Order: sequence, then C-alpha cells, then structure tokens
Amino acid sequence: MLLNETKNGLENINENNNEKKVPKHLAIILDGNGRWAKKRGLPRLMGHRAGLRKLEEMVRLVKREGIRYFSVYAFSTENWNRPSMEVQGLMSLFKFYIKHKVKEVKAEGARIRFAGRKDKIPEELLGMMQWAEDETKDENILDFILCINYGGRAEVLDAINKLRHDKTIDLNQDITEQDLRKYFYLPDVPDPDLIIRTSGELRMSNFWMWEGAYSEFYFTDTYWPDFNYDNLKAALEDYAGRDRRYGGLKK
Ligand code: IPE
Ligand code: IPE
Ligand code: MG
Repeated sequence: MLLNETKNGLENINENNNEKKVPKHLAIILDGNGRWAKKRGLPRLMGHRAGLRKLEEMVRLVKREGIRYFSVYAFSTENWNRPSMEVQGLMSLFKFYIKHKVKEVKAEGARIRFAGRKDKIPEELLGMMQWAEDETKDENILDFILCINYGGRAEVLDAINKLRHDKTIDLNQDITEQDLRKYFYLPDVPDPDLIIRTSGELRMSNFWMWEGAYSEFYFTDTYWPDFNYDNLKAALEDYAGRDRRYGGLKK
C-alpha cells in the first residue's frame, strides 16, 4: 500500500532502469584537462584539445553500452571568468571539433544537440552549432548533447523568463514542474540517471541542477583526457548496483 501511495513517474523510471541496469541518460562533467596538461609540462589548451579528442571515442563506447542520451559539460556559464586567451582557445577548439567531427559522430547514428545560453558565444561558432544540429537531426541511436555556456541556474531562470513572456500562459495560475520543464533547453531529454565527474573534484559546478535532483553520482580521480573504457565500465558497474529509491522505500 505504501508503495502504491508513493508511486509516481520517478519511481516508474527507477523500475525500468533497474531492469536494464544501464543509465538511459549518462552525463559527464569532463574535468581535469588543465591539470592533465600541466602534469606533462604542456599549455592548458593542449589539455582541452586532448579532452575534446577523447569525446569521439566516448561517443562510440557509450553507444556500445546501450546508452540513449549522452551529455557532456564542456563550458559553464562561469568559465567566461577564465583568462581570455583560454576562453578564445576553447571557442576555437569547439569550432574545430564541430567542423571535423560531425561526420564521424553522424556515422555512429548520433544526433548532436547543444544545451546552454546562446549569448556571448561567437557568431561563427553559433552558426556551426546550428549546422551540426541540422546535419544530424535525423539520427536516432544516440543523442549526444554538448553543454556549452550551460549553467543550471541560468537554465531555470531562462525557463521562467520564457514562460513569463508566453502569451498563452495564464500567469495568475500557479505553475507546475511540468509547466516549467517545457521551457528548458532540451525538454524532451530525460533526467540524467548517472553523472560522472572526473579529476577528483566533488561538486556539481552548476551542471544539470534541476534535472540532476535524483541523479546518481560517480567520482573518479582520473583526469578527463585519460578517461578510458575501463573507467567507463567501472562507473556503469557501480551504477548497476545502486538502489534508486526517490524518497520511497526499498523494494
Ligand atoms: C575541464 O577542464 C574543461 C573546462 C572546464 C572547459 P579544466 O580546464 O577545468 O581543467 P582543470 O580543472 O583546470 O584541471
Ligand atoms: C566545471 O569545471 C565546468 C565544466 C567541466 C565545463 P570547472 O573546472 O570549471 O569547475 P570548478 O571551477 O572546479 O568548480
Ligand atoms: Mg576544472
């Protein structure tokens, strides 16, 4: 009876995931590029380059593991605070990555999508982001989501402001979670089941703040450019053993 009373959408998701033991949506906070480079006596940007290269391999591996949505935190709304040379270098690397890798990603059956604020992003990069989305829009094996100029707080604020300006909404009525969700960057994408953070840092740094309310977390000391299939498998195995209760009771 108690189980029936507490049954909700979240619990249903739980049941499905426990059956398959594979996260439907895997999210990674790819951290440690700078330290990876420093350890090798290289400039930080070389670390970012190695980090972006790693993504190609991960798309293939994640697909092989049967994951349907794969999101990566590549640039936060706070990362603009870094020295302008690093920021500009990162923007150039994003352009290079999109230009040269869309074909390969598409060949894997992956649809490229972006989450984040569009302001501040250089126009040329914005154009390429749009191009990458258009090029891959019909792919449906994996959604590969790049979070660029993404912030969880910004996303919630942007959603509230979009809702405020939507003439079809009666602002005298209370809004629900479902109402607000419709205005998120990618409303159709299910919440991340598992969030991995590399490099030994133990925080969210403003990633999927709303969507990650019930995500499982996995932390590893490995720097992102060194992250490999064994690390991925270890994280997925750990996840498979988790008991997700969503505030309910163990079944
Ligand atoms: C993560 O690596 C990539 C971005 C945030 C753009 P970092 O650049 O944060 O690497 P560390 O944390 O300095 O090692
Ligand atoms: C988080 O990494 C953001 C991304 C990975 C894009 P940071 O390196 O920017 O986070 P903090 O500053 O350590 O919290
Ligand atoms: Mg970092």
